[in-house]
Amino acid sequence: MSAPLSADAQKQAAGEAAAQLVQPTMTVGLGSGSTAEAFVRALARRTLAVRAVATSEATATLAASLGFDLLDLNAAGLIDLTVDGADEIGPGLALIKGGGAALLREKLVWEASARRVVIADASKRPGRFGRFPLPIEVVAFGHATTAARIDVTLARLGLAARARLRLRDGQPVRTDGGNLIYDAPCEEIGDPAALAGALKALTGVVEHGLFLDLAERAVIGTDEGVVTFFP
Ligand code: 5RP
Repeated sequence: MSAPLSADAQKQAAGEAAAQLVQPTMTVGLGSGSTAEAFVRALARRTLAVRAVATSEATATLAASLGFDLLDLNAAGLIDLTVDGADEIGPGLALIKGGGAALLREKLVWEASARRVVIADASKRPGRFGRFPLPIEVVAFGHATTAARIDVTLARLGLAARARLRLRDGQPVRTDGGNLIYDAPCEEIGDPAALAGALKALTGVVEHGLFLDLAERAVIGTDEGVVTFFP
């Protein structure tokens, strides 16, 4: 039996394994968060000639410091492979993302990618989808009215959650795009596609953190080593 690995060590192992999926000359989407950071650092250590597109300002800063050739998404064309973390991984590799408030740029980069791989530590597969409060990016103008409509939408879908404005140090968190984040503690999302569609239809909602039918595989660090799952 292997010794238990810390979550950080599991993230590191997943990031290292995903870095092995990258081939020279690829255009690579760089995710956001601590697991994605492990991937970015591992990829930098491989010193491959790749071009990269960052999913957040924080990742762009990190990648620039490591010497990556960074491209704007508009200039990238089809991205060969994007590797990113997740806050929760559910059945069929349905994901909840946005814990780091980068969900909009992440989804734009994921959808511009031919291949998308999610990396995580073992805690991100809790067995019940919806445990992590669902991040929802909302325009600042009239955000409280948008939040009220989000709550009505959740209730219509049988979810008792109330969306909460995300604060840091008492101030609303602003995304890289200047928007706000609401978090909806759904507890369990029985029909992710229905929820995704209903949220997307609301004026004022920019994007939500449900990433459905996007990940081609999950590379998970566990106590038994790195395990790969497919949808
Ligand atoms: C940021 C994200 C991150 O990928 C997610 O929050 C996971 O972060 P970490 O790897 O630090 O646990 O979606 O918006």
